Amino acid sequence: MIPRVLSGIQPSGNLHIGNYLGALGNWVKIQHDYESIFCIVDLHAITVYQKPDELRTKIREIAGIFLAAGIDPKHSRIVVQSTVPAHAELAWLLTCVTPMGWLERMTQFKAKAAAQESIGDGLFQYPVLMAADILLYQANIVPVGEDQMQHIELARDIAQRFNSLYGETFVMPATRLPAVGARIMGLDDPTAKMSKSASGTGHAVALLDPPDRIRRTIMRATTDSGSGVDFETMGPGVANLLAIFQSFSGWSDDQMRTHFTGVRYGDLKKQVAEMTISQLEPMQQRYREITADPSHVDRVLHEGAQAVLPTANATVQLVKEHMGIYTRGR
Ligand code: TYM
Repeated sequence: MIPRVLSGIQPSGNLHIGNYLGALGNWVKIQHDYESIFCIVDLHAITVYQKPDELRTKIREIAGIFLAAGIDPKHSRIVVQSTVPAHAELAWLLTCVTPMGWLERMTQFKAKAAAQESIGDGLFQYPVLMAADILLYQANIVPVGEDQMQHIELARDIAQRFNSLYGETFVMPATRLPAVGARIMGLDDPTAKMSKSASGTGHAVALLDPPDRIRRTIMRATTDSGSGVDFETMGPGVANLLAIFQSFSGWSDDQMRTHFTGVRYGDLKKQVAEMTISQLEPMQQRYREITADPSHVDRVLHEGAQAVLPTANATVQLVKEHMGIYTRGR
């Protein structure tokens, strides 16, 4: 059997180069080696309040970006999470085998909860829904950025607990990180992860930012008190710029050292900006073409959902049978 890949992105905020280098770009590269499912996880997005009109727009925008980045809809399935009710149904079934203590340990929950006035229960349950996304399709590989590793560990723990309580049911998923770019840092503050929800210009390069804006953001990036690149002593800002360049270019470590040692920071930034623009501009052009026909994205999403429904429903049926839940009356 061909191994299955599953991953997801929340339709909250603007997708940025961290999402691309940590996840989406990697998906495009590996998709054809596997059976691939990529989700737009709207049920996760609403764990924090989203303006309905913006959420509606974002979901379709992200589907357009997936296609523009090179996700091949003839091969890979692009699925809006809420269009396959089995995600939410399995999440509940898994909630019932997940100890609260496991969820209390999640670092993303602690960080997000600290930023909210009142914490919705959904935010707490968030990693269980994510485990459901993965286990619903019996995914073997989950390609993500570094910040999701703890969540995938939890999905494995939940799967293991379920299997030991109710018998062999779930496949154990494995995390797959990109070799470079698994954790892109904020350009304004290289000690904090680049994030969709962080506000302020200068923090992130969004995938749909026009070239002059990309140039401005990268030229303003925080570096350190040195003036030229030194691979032995560089600070996190310079390391982050180099990671962005290396990840976009695919250069080896040796190529990076030979080319950039001693290069002044201003010149480094120029090269990072031009490399980023050269990768994003063609994607933006394709995005405009794809979204010129608004029905195209809807068709892809409809076909994606239809294609995965049988697998999703079969897993929920199996889980219910193993748990002893009534399955006849449907
Ligand atoms: P989300 O929407 O925050 O991020 C989407 C993907 O982008 C990666 N990423 C980064 N990679 C490198 N540097 C960064 N600064 C950076 N910021 C984000 C994330 O690691 C992720 O791979 N909970 C998930 C969505 C999700 C999911 C799933 C993922 C829901 N169900 C099932 C995998 C499998 C999230 O919030 O990702």
